[in-house]
Amino acid sequence: MSTVNIGIIGAGAIAPSLCNALAKHPKAKVVADFDLHAGRQAKLCDQFAIAKRPRSLEELLADDEVDAIYVAVPNKFHVPYTLAALAAGKHVIAEKPFAMNLAEARKVKAAVKKSGKVWMLGMNRRYPTAMQKARALVAKGVIGEAYHAKARWQRRWGCPRLQTWFGHKALSGGGCLLDIGVHMLDQTLFIADNFAPVTCSGSVYGKFGHRGQGEGGWGQSDRDPKMTFDVEDFANAHIRLAKGMSVDLDVSWAAHMPTGNVMETIIYGTEGTLWVGQDEAVAGGKETIRLCTRRRQEFVVDLDPKAKVAYPHCDRFTNFVNAILGKEQPCVTIDQALAVQAILDGIYKSSADRREVRIKL
Ligand SMILES: NC(=O)c1ccc[n+]([C@@H]2O[C@H](COP(=O)([O-])OP(=O)(O)OC[C@H]3O[C@@H](n4cnc5c(N)ncnc54)[C@H](O)[C@@H]3O)[C@@H](O)[C@H]2O)c1
Repeated sequence: MSTVNIGIIGAGAIAPSLCNALAKHPKAKVVADFDLHAGRQAKLCDQFAIAKRPRSLEELLADDEVDAIYVAVPNKFHVPYTLAALAAGKHVIAEKPFAMNLAEARKVKAAVKKSGKVWMLGMNRRYPTAMQKARALVAKGVIGEAYHAKARWQRRWGCPRLQTWFGHKALSGGGCLLDIGVHMLDQTLFIADNFAPVTCSGSVYGKFGHRGQGEGGWGQSDRDPKMTFDVEDFANAHIRLAKGMSVDLDVSWAAHMPTGNVMETIIYGTEGTLWVGQDEAVAGGKETIRLCTRRRQEFVVDLDPKAKVAYPHCDRFTNFVNAILGKEQPCVTIDQALAVQAILDGIYKSSADRREVRIKL
C-alpha cells in the first residue's frame, strides 16, 4: 500500500485533529467523511478538501478507496461502528473511551483477530514526550520498584456543554470517569507498564450537571433538551494492580476546589518519584516531567531527565498510519485497552454496590 486512504465517521469537535495531524504525512490522505449532520460534514470537508461526502455509513464502508476508518462519534457508536468497519475490511482507529462496557469491548478483540487489520484506540495522552520519557525511565529502573501512583484530572468548572450527549448516559455510557478518567488511568498504567488490575474500590457522584451547573466551555455538541444530565461529574477510586502496585484516581468535571484545574500522574518508586502533568503556571499547560531522587541526603528534582522516546512524532494518528504501513508497532494494544475498560466497569460496579470488587479480564 503506497498511501493510506482514511475515511472519518464524525465531523464534530475532535474530527479535525486527524486532518491536522496527518496534513503533512507523505503516505496518508483523508478521502471521505460521514456525519449524520450534513452541515457539519460539509464544513469539515470544505475546510480540509475532503472529496467524498457519503450520506450513510454503508456508503462509506462500501467504498474500496477507503483503507482505514477513524471513529469520532459519541461513545455509544464506537464499538458498533468499529465492528462494521472491521467487517468491511478496514483498519480502525477509534476515539476513547473504548466502549460503553467491557462485554461490548470484548467483541472487538475477536473481530480484530478475525480481520487481521490494524486496530488502535486513540489514546493521545500516551504520546507527549514527557509521557514517553516517564515510561522509559520506569522501564530502565530509574525509580526502582514502582509501588504506588496518584492520577488526577480535576476540572474545577468543566462539564462539557450541558444538554448534549456527553452528559446523557444512553449515548455516553458515563460522565467524567469515561471522558477524562480514562485518559489518566490509561497514561498511568502505560507509564508503569502494568495493565494487570486485581481489585478496585470506587465511588462516583453527580452533584453539578444535574443542577444545571458546572458547564465550562468544553464540547461543542448540539444542545437538545432531551439530553438530560444523568452521569457522574466526580469520581474516585483505589485500584490494586499485580506486582503489589496500587493507583489512586481522582477525576472531576466540576468541584469546589481551592486551586485551578489539576492534571497529573505521580509514580512513587523505591529509588525515586516521577511527576508528569500539565503545570499551567510553569509550562503554559504543556505536559512536563519531573524526576525526584535523593543524592547525598538531598532531594534532587531533575526537570529534563534524559530518556528514550519511542514515538518521536508524538502523534496517535501518525502511529496508526505507520502501523498500517508496517513501519511501527501500535502504541496501544487491545489487551491494554480491555484492562482499562475492565477497571472503569469495576469502578462503576463498586460504586453501585458500595464495596471493593475483583476485576476479571
Ligand atoms: N482524544 C481526546 O482527547 C478526545 C477529545 C474530545 C473528544 N473525544 C472523543 O471523540 C468522540 C466525539 O467527540 P466530539 O467532541 O467530537 O463530539 P461532537 O458532539 O462535537 O461531535 C460528534 C459528531 O458525531 C455526529 N454523530 C452523532 N451520532 C452519529 C451517528 N450515529 N453517526 C454518524 N455521526 C454521528 C454528530 O452529528 C457530531 O457531528 C467522543 O467519543 C469523545 O469522547 C476524544
